[in-house]
Amino acid sequence: MAKPTKKSRIGILTGGGDCAGLNPAMKWVVKTALDERLQWERGIQYEVLGIRDGWRGLIRAEPAAMDITGYLVPLNLEMVRTWDRYGGTFLGTSRTNPYDPQNDQSKTVLDNVEKFGLDALIAIGGEDTLGVAYKLSQAGVNAIGIPKTIDKDLPGTDYTLGFETAQNVITEEVDRLRTTAGSHKRVFVVETMGRNAGWLALEGGESCGAFIILIPEHDFSIERVNELVEEGRRGGARYEIIVVAEGAKPSGGFEVVERGDMDGFGHKSLGGIGEFLAAEIHKATELDSRSIVLSHLQRGGAPCAYDRRMGRYFGIAAVDLVVKEDFGKMVSYSNGKITAVPLKVVTGGPSLVDVDRLYDVDRYNGRRTILSQRR
Ligand code: F6P
Repeated sequence: MAKPTKKSRIGILTGGGDCAGLNPAMKWVVKTALDERLQWERGIQYEVLGIRDGWRGLIRAEPAAMDITGYLVPLNLEMVRTWDRYGGTFLGTSRTNPYDPQNDQSKTVLDNVEKFGLDALIAIGGEDTLGVAYKLSQAGVNAIGIPKTIDKDLPGTDYTLGFETAQNVITEEVDRLRTTAGSHKRVFVVETMGRNAGWLALEGGESCGAFIILIPEHDFSIERVNELVEEGRRGGARYEIIVVAEGAKPSGGFEVVERGDMDGFGHKSLGGIGEFLAAEIHKATELDSRSIVLSHLQRGGAPCAYDRRMGRYFGIAAVDLVVKEDFGKMVSYSNGKITAVPLKVVTGGPSLVDVDRLYDVDRYNGRRTILSQRR
């Protein structure tokens, strides 16, 4: 059989906050697209063009052949060989929104997709990045999405790359805190990321065995938190670990914002609820209360085994969609299977914790019944 002569170019980019799992997904897009045996079977020779810095790269890059800006980088098997072992994204990322109402650059993106001859475009991102991919697909671009975000708040999929690695970070850091918290009889309030979704705090708190978990989906009472802490001490506890999501807020209060400015997608930077809560606990109980913000540590580090494997499956599935010319889709993990859903789902608002099913509003913690009736 002769080597196929038909050629097709796939563009790939990562957008939004980085996390573990992006590099494994890119590696497997490249490996699957460039796999020699598969190319012969498909009768198409694919090439993969990396676009640096998310949508910013697709706005600023110059035509492919002589891209002096450095925003375009052809990817080959040798380059990506070890990528699955590393966190972050070797292509870089940005929170640039080509559809920013203050500065709409979507026309440039559409022109560049043409100019660079992108027969397909794989975007790896969360709600914002994939929201752009959806709009571009509506405008005729052959877009495919791969879900990632440590927040796990993307609708249409049960898993988003980066989440499990972030869970591991929370668990490891809290394990570390326990020895010092116990030695000093302290209350430690651990603030996690997650924006307005409580998945990271809830499941991270469950993994590390936190005494109290506070999530954005259920406003908490400061009095109840203090009551639980005091009850715990009376019961013999030497220390407490309280995991609080950055978007959690006291009833009647507001979410705490770290900085007033917004990114290109209109998001404020959340942060500070941990410090606020530690001060409130100290005021009411006189216990030595400290706060720690896990912040970007949750996005860092090498991908855990699960993110390497899911990155692999998502990358392969994304190329399968390209091969089938089944565009305008996001690969998804649903009911234990890798599948694909229309990209439009990402515009449906964030996926939030179902409080009735998954959260104990009295203990401020994860559920205590799973197979029997609750309460
Ligand atoms: O969406 C991922 C995330 O890590 C959120 O949990 C967090 O609120 C936000 O990004 C932080 O963004 P940045 O890195 O731009 O400060």
